[in-house]
Amino acid sequence: MIIDGKKIASELREELKQEVLKLREKYNKVPGLTVILIGDMAPSQIYVRNKEKSAIEVGLKSEVLRYKETIDEKIILDKIKELNKDDDVSGILVQLPLPKHINKQKVIETILPSKDVDGFHPMNVGNLSSGYESSIPCTPLGCYLLIKKIEPNLNGKKAVIVGRSNLNGKPMTQLLLKENCTVTITHSKTKNLKAECLEADIIVAAVGIPELVKGDWVKKDAIIIDVGINKTNKGIVGDVAFKEVSKVAKALTPVPGGVGPMTIACLLKNTVECFKRSQK
Ligand code: GUN
Repeated sequence: MIIDGKKIASELREELKQEVLKLREKYNKVPGLTVILIGDMAPSQIYVRNKEKSAIEVGLKSEVLRYKETIDEKIILDKIKELNKDDDVSGILVQLPLPKHINKQKVIETILPSKDVDGFHPMNVGNLSSGYESSIPCTPLGCYLLIKKIEPNLNGKKAVIVGRSNLNGKPMTQLLLKENCTVTITHSKTKNLKAECLEADIIVAAVGIPELVKGDWVKKDAIIIDVGINKTNKGIVGDVAFKEVSKVAKALTPVPGGVGPMTIACLLKNTVECFKRSQK
């Protein structure tokens, strides 16, 4: 079974749209998302355009602030502080990667944790790992929702995460632990990755190596989530060898059309959640 991330994301956006209508009625106001985009890297431009389009589609107030590559760090930090105080802004996202002269950690820590729709602020990272309420990074949240759609009861399942990034691998681990999975985190230096993967009921591949996970690495009936987006001379491929794995796995996300659309839908979800928490 191919997991239709496009369709599931579209359903989530529709639910959010209805929720935003209700919030508008209740508070006479809609959640607002402000995205800061620095420089003109093509992938970031595309992501941000998609985010803006989807935000408007579900009825959010959407704003994109564009800065040139050479902008001073201080101007960005001051702008974030201004947005932190702005009641019309529920969520702030600074598109990564940043130019080298801008300190990513400083930028992330300047965003108010309650407006951190990426869930990257150390306060949100800590809250997630402690099991407290927090913003959850959009990509792992999207993966989690896809997994739950296929298998609502994850009790005791063995999950193998390939990749240990702050963006994906680590928060993914927290989400699956909360669902009582037994989670193994692996990465590019793991000794016998194939043997680890062969144990898994669920594999989340987020390591950035084209088609790393092969058909004979996968247990029959496993759920496979492919977070990879790798440019190769064959075009864009994931971290999973799609054709081989699709013959073995119970369910598998395609690239594109799997995790990608869910990431954006989850950003909108996080914006709505931040708004709701701010009204409490
Ligand atoms: N660049 C690629 N993915 C992301 C993301 O999830 N959040 C931000 N802020 N930048 C990104």
